[in-house]
Amino acid sequence: MSVPGAGVVAAGPLAEHMNRLGWQLTWLGTAVFGLVVMLLVIGMFRRPPAGGGRPLRTWIVGGGVVLSTVLIGLVFALTLMAMRATSLDTTNDSPRVQITGHQWWWEIEYPDHNVVTANELHIPAGVPIEMNLRSNDVIHSFWVPEIGGKIDLLPDDVNTYVIQADEPGVYQGVCAEFCGLQHARMRFLVVAQPVAEFEAWLEQQRAPSSSPTGEQAQKGERIFMVECARCHSILGTDASGDEGPDLSHVASRRTLGAGTIENSSEHLRQWIEDPGRFKPGVLMPRPDLTARDLGDLAVYLEGLR
Ligand code: CUA
Repeated sequence: MSVPGAGVVAAGPLAEHMNRLGWQLTWLGTAVFGLVVMLLVIGMFRRPPAGGGRPLRTWIVGGGVVLSTVLIGLVFALTLMAMRATSLDTTNDSPRVQITGHQWWWEIEYPDHNVVTANELHIPAGVPIEMNLRSNDVIHSFWVPEIGGKIDLLPDDVNTYVIQADEPGVYQGVCAEFCGLQHARMRFLVVAQPVAEFEAWLEQQRAPSSSPTGEQAQKGERIFMVECARCHSILGTDASGDEGPDLSHVASRRTLGAGTIENSSEHLRQWIEDPGRFKPGVLMPRPDLTARDLGDLAVYLEGLR
């Protein structure tokens, strides 16, 4: 998986304004640095004027007070302008999203549509989306560099934040606040889709999971209800645990373990066999199952589209 932030192009209005501010401050800083170095070099090679106290005071007042005040004022003004430009308004029909940080994964809920998923935030492209964010345990931070903005998830308060992706695409997100052993493997994807495609996705996620077909999958479902249902939910079944991610449509997701590995049959099987192998410290225990039971369980989970 590529490093988030590498080769980033602004893909939303927030990122665009922040990108612009970042460059403005960089150029301003570079100009000041150049000026200081130039004066330093001139000062080093210049003969002191005979008996002149006046020019020194001009430099101190001019450079130390006037110039500093002007520059800091300029930085302040640019920052205020960027702050104003980055507070987006939502429209009435844009879907609300609720995001809960867990060690070490993201719970994503669409409360108006009864949809719960994990580690993959789907949004319609070109629409401002209001998110309410909180944490279930320690402080996490939601950050998608290409779309812009960064907001903390706190255990005792809800933060509200509006994001927007201009074009359809898949954007990498990370947790940007150290939150324990697997902080670095607390990733997620933002999948921005054309509005109709997003609506279809919501519809599919809201539907109960497809019931298992085939003997292996049916056996896998029974094993799941005994071994996994205390922590995980699956729509349309008795499994309603809320410790771990909702798995109603787990097979439709792109990654496992919050961006730790790609979601494939082989990885899925290896993940449930020993999640700690990929993510040491993960709260999901290693199940005590035979290879055959694990195989059945994996077949069942692969069918959850
Ligand atoms: Cu969650 Cu770092």
